[in-house]
Amino acid sequence: MQLTKDQNGAASCLDKSVFVHAGPGSGKTRVLISRIVNLVKSKVSPTEILAFTFTRAAAREMRDRVTDELGEKAARDMWIMTIHAFCMRVISTWGWYAGYKEGVSIYDDRDQLDIIRGVQKDLSIKTKPETFLKEINRGKIHANRAVAFEEFNFRMRENNAINYIGLLDKAIWILANCADAKEHYAHKFRYVHLDEMNDTSDRDYSIVSMVASKWKNVFCVGDLSQTIFSFRGSNATNIDHLKSQFPDHEEFFLRKSFRCPQAVIDACNNLLPDNALEADKDGGFVTVCEFNSEDEEAQFIAGNIKTIVETSDRKYSDFAILGRTHAVNEGIFNALRAQGVPTCVAGTKLKFYGQEEIRQFHDYLKVMANGRDDFSFKRIVNVPPRGIKHVTLARISAQARDAEISLLESALIHFSDAPTEEKKWLADLGALSKGSFPDQIRSIHHLLATWYEDQGLKTRVKALNKLLGLIATWQKETEEVVCVESYLRMLSEVNAQDDIVEDKDEVKLMTVHTSKGLEFPNVIIPACENMVFPLNNHADTPEKLEALGEERRLFYVALSRAKSAVTATRSRLRVVRGRDREQSPSVFLKEAGMGSSVP
Ligand SMILES: Nc1ncnc2c1ncn2[C@@H]1O[C@H](COP(=O)(O)OP(=O)(O)O)[C@@H](O)[C@H]1O
Ligand SMILES: [Mg+2]
Repeated sequence: MQLTKDQNGAASCLDKSVFVHAGPGSGKTRVLISRIVNLVKSKVSPTEILAFTFTRAAAREMRDRVTDELGEKAARDMWIMTIHAFCMRVISTWGWYAGYKEGVSIYDDRDQLDIIRGVQKDLSIKTKPETFLKEINRGKIHANRAVAFEEFNFRMRENNAINYIGLLDKAIWILANCADAKEHYAHKFRYVHLDEMNDTSDRDYSIVSMVASKWKNVFCVGDLSQTIFSFRGSNATNIDHLKSQFPDHEEFFLRKSFRCPQAVIDACNNLLPDNALEADKDGGFVTVCEFNSEDEEAQFIAGNIKTIVETSDRKYSDFAILGRTHAVNEGIFNALRAQGVPTCVAGTKLKFYGQEEIRQFHDYLKVMANGRDDFSFKRIVNVPPRGIKHVTLARISAQARDAEISLLESALIHFSDAPTEEKKWLADLGALSKGSFPDQIRSIHHLLATWYEDQGLKTRVKALNKLLGLIATWQKETEEVVCVESYLRMLSEVNAQDDIVEDKDEVKLMTVHTSKGLEFPNVIIPACENMVFPLNNHADTPEKLEALGEERRLFYVALSRAKSAVTATRSRLRVVRGRDREQSPSVFLKEAGMGSSVP
């Protein structure tokens, strides 16, 4: 593929920082990859190159493209990963500086809720645990819960555990306070790349800024009209900070979209006129279809896709349905299934990992990796049931506290003169923690699958077998050393985009947020109605106006995924909290100049 003059200009600027601002489909990611290729061709060592992507799936795709152009070794030698994965590496190498032991557990929401409930009980606090968790995840704690938060942090640390935000905070702390660590990364990476810079948070920015501080060579690409993660802390002004930190830089603007045809570009330009884009190809379709009920709408979407696939050369995989919310997608999924349309639902893997039996399996692994992880230990101690009683657990806990050891260590001591059954379990656990990764996987699988089989719970056994398959695939594909720790690190990064596999002939169903960075020939945007998309069309306060702006950018992201056609649908009635609600057409349809047509 021939790069345009502007694309080429950006991709060939190797000796200073570069900021590429450009619209959707203008080749930002492509330019970033070309720049990496140019660096290696000009004799830069791949080990000096770091590229940050927004998701794990994007990292994988980028690595594949680099492999195609430069070969496997070069791709393996450079670091292409999310900022989250980078922070995990910082913690696993330098975590001891911040008081962490080996095998830090990454706690997800459920794990944290366990701790929160305990803290709230002990401190007699009545807040909803979920509210507290939300505050923790956002890094903004209500003054009333400052003490509880301190206790929460204390317990996390006792368990040698960290959460998503803590991972970034601790990595930042280490880079800021441990000169060796900062020098290690800042010296190693002469060339730092950042895709989707429009969605960097203040924390992401700190990481990029510190890693690039020595050689001052960053290559950032992004599009302010696609900032859609403010609710998760992304802050577009960080780009200005980066620009002033690296004053010797060049800026490039790419205006031509190679993805979307003229009709789609027109709608995009109408929606965000300040961001005028040019189309590279004519034609394309943008239609709006209206229905009397959401059921009619869902049936139409499924039936229409089926008819098109059966009567033309279009494939199922050419279609993506991008709903504003999961609730909207659910009804459509049911219609697709009823009509026998093969469908891939983004987020399926995440859901699978959340199933009880899979969590139990992973809890075992967490204890193997991190003997201090008492919360996981408590969850597996009686799974399968071993008759280990509350009193015994209380005794183990007290002993652990007194001797300042973990529950696992305490259990090992306690059970050394215990009755046979408990002793046997201890021996099993001891053997398990010493085995190789494949042995551990096999043993845990055997333990849980036998137990579920005895109870006749076939679906659970099936799920456990499926997990073995997924682990085997991971073992084959991972670039990291195969061990419990690297497996758990991968798990903490699983994201809804992981389910989108290009080569399967299936319709893709996902939320607009998940579609970030992806492209599809035919895009369907359901429920284009006020109070759905946008979630709220009122703009009577500055906050609501800001929120509406983000919804508009989100609609822009949805439109601009399309390589040939967009179909927006809406229903006049929608069931909201059990009642029919009359729906008005989304303000964005009018803003984008999208006329309606009855199907
Ligand atoms: N110079 C070019 N000529 C033809 N197609 C291009 C060119 N640059 C990019 N593309 C194509 O346009 C699409 C969007 O590119 P991508 O890098 O994903 O854009 P962005 O990251 O800006 O959204 C891809 O299918 C890509 O192959
Ligand atoms: Mg991109």
